Parts: sequence; C-alpha cells; structure tokens
Amino acid sequence: MTGKPRVLSGMRPTGNLHLGNYLGALDNWVRLQDDYECFFFVASWHALTTDAENSGQAPESTIEMAADWLGAGLDPERSTLFIQSLVPEHAELHLLFSMVTPLGWLERVPTFKEMVEQLGLESPSYGLLGYPLLQAADILMYKAQWVPVGVDQVPHIELTREVARRFNHTWKRAVFPEPGAKLTEIPKVPGTDGRKMSKSLGNAIFLSDSPEAITAKVKPMVTDPARKRRSDPGNPDVCPVFDLHKIFTPAPAREACATGCRTAAIGCLDCKAVLLEHMIPPLAKIREARERFAAKPREIVEILHEGSRRARVFAQKTMEEVRSLINLEPR
Ligand code: TRP
Ligand code: SF4
Repeated sequence: MTGKPRVLSGMRPTGNLHLGNYLGALDNWVRLQDDYECFFFVASWHALTTDAENSGQAPESTIEMAADWLGAGLDPERSTLFIQSLVPEHAELHLLFSMVTPLGWLERVPTFKEMVEQLGLESPSYGLLGYPLLQAADILMYKAQWVPVGVDQVPHIELTREVARRFNHTWKRAVFPEPGAKLTEIPKVPGTDGRKMSKSLGNAIFLSDSPEAITAKVKPMVTDPARKRRSDPGNPDVCPVFDLHKIFTPAPAREACATGCRTAAIGCLDCKAVLLEHMIPPLAKIREARERFAAKPREIVEILHEGSRRARVFAQKTMEEVRSLINLEPR
C-alpha cells in the first residue's frame, strides 16, 4: 500500500490500439502513474457482452493491446496490470450487487439503449444490461477513489456510486467509498476520412503503424473539402489534418501552416509534410517500444498473470469483508 489515492480503469480487449485510444485514455493512464496507485485491466468479460461468439480472439487481442500499453509507458512495477477474468471475484461481487440493483437503474443507462439500437439487437442479453453493474464491481472491488474515463462513461460511474450507496445502506456498513469520474480531456482525433477515428471504420492510425504506414495514411487524408485546387485558399478550422496538427505540431509551425493554408501559400501536401515531421518521432518511439514487447509475448503474458495475482489478493480481501457482512453460511 502506497498511501497514494487509488485509480482504476479498464479497456475491452480490442487488439491494436489507435491514436484515438491513445490520446483518449492510454496517454492519460501513463501520466497518472506518477501520482496514483494504479490498477489497469483488460475487461475480458465486458467484451463478451456484444461479441461472445468471437471470444477466441481474446487472447491475441489482449496481448496486442497490452503491448501497446507497455510500449506507451504503463509500468508493471508501478501499476497493477491485470485481466478481469483472472480475478473471478469480480463476478461474485457483480452477482451480489445484482441483488440490490433495481432493473430500472440499468434500463435507464444510455449506453444500453445505444448499443441495442446500434447493433439492432432484438433480444439483448442479460449480460449487456448488466454491463455497467459489472463495471461497478470492477471499480468498487478496489475501493478506487477515481476512475479515469471519457464523458461517455459518466453514467456508469454515477450508477457505481448509487450501487455503493445501496450496498452500504442495505448491510449498514460503509464498505464501499463512492468513486468519482476523473474526466480525461480528449482532443478531437479524426480518422483519415475526417470521421471520428475508429477501428471499424477503417480510418485509424495505429500505435503499431510504421512511419511508412503513417505517411501512406496521412498523404491521402481528407482536408478542407472546399480547397479543391492548390490555388484555392483553405480553412484549417474545418480540416481534419489540422486537428492532428493541434495534437502534434508546436504552435509556431502550426500557425505558419494555418496562415499558409488561408493564403494558399502552401499546398495540402506541404502542410501534411510538416505534420508528419512532428507526428512521426513520438509515435515511432512508442512503436519501437511496443514492438520490443510484442516480440516477447510470453513476457507480456507473465506481466498480466503476475498483475492478476496481485489484484486478486486485493479482491479476496474485499470479498472476505463482503461475505462476512452478508453472512450466508452457518459457521
Ligand atoms: N466500460 C469501459 C469502456 O467501454 C471499460 C470498463 C470496464 C471500465 N470496466 C471498467 C472502465 C471499470 C473503467 C472502470 O471503455
Ligand atoms: Fe488542411 Fe493543411 Fe490543406 Fe489547409 S493546407 S486544407 S490545414 S491540409
């Protein structure tokens, strides 16, 4: 125990992470390691809520994602990196929470309705409805004070707080502290087609992409659609390439591009060359590190298993407290 406040967060095992995942979450996790006791985990059961038939991909997706975590700088010496399904206590706590959670609380969670609509599910599973409750178990198991997430996850943290209150009230003891969402400032990360970067849209730049691959993706990238010819002035404010400049290019060089764009002094390829010059070195650094880990998958597996053993010690302690409070078995 370090005395530092504790944070916990998780990601479903989606395989290779892209820039949107990195800038929206991972980069922030890496920085949190300095000031917090951190638990980061692979939400392997959560992945089953929408994709049960593809569970066979989980091991490989987990290794790929963990290679990105480690390459980006998550440090297994400082943070506990684990796999949800290797800590089965999460399932037990989820079950117990389900006994004191009104159905209406879960039906009202916006991500549930969104998923049902998006995926056109005719009969959504019990597990999908329970998704945020499993998340509550993930968080409360470690009595985390803070949960670094994007705004889309705020309703899940709200639910977690309600569940903590309901549990504490039902069994008349303050077992679970109420966590807060630690909102990640998420820059706009457009994909190469100008839409939000997403693996399924095929517009993503991955942390595993080589400098050549990144260059090949950025060169044909969508720009200000009104700038048809090199002689047309453009508007950086509506250009997805410029959104990437805001992330990677220092202000003076970026402003020079903006001015050049507005006056048609530079072409889009010139502008993209400046972006690549600033974008490639930091990404190459991450990629080289992630490739070193990816080349030794056994080491990644060992790190995740060791982290899971550590997490489990914590989880078992929480569950002993919970079990003795609920008091089901004669002794
Ligand atoms: N629901 C989160 C997502 O989709 C993943 C997740 C599962 C999570 N359990 C968690 C995040 C606990 C934070 C804390 O991104
Ligand atoms: Fe976008 Fe740069 Fe082209 Fe302007 S010059 S439209 S900012 S790519």
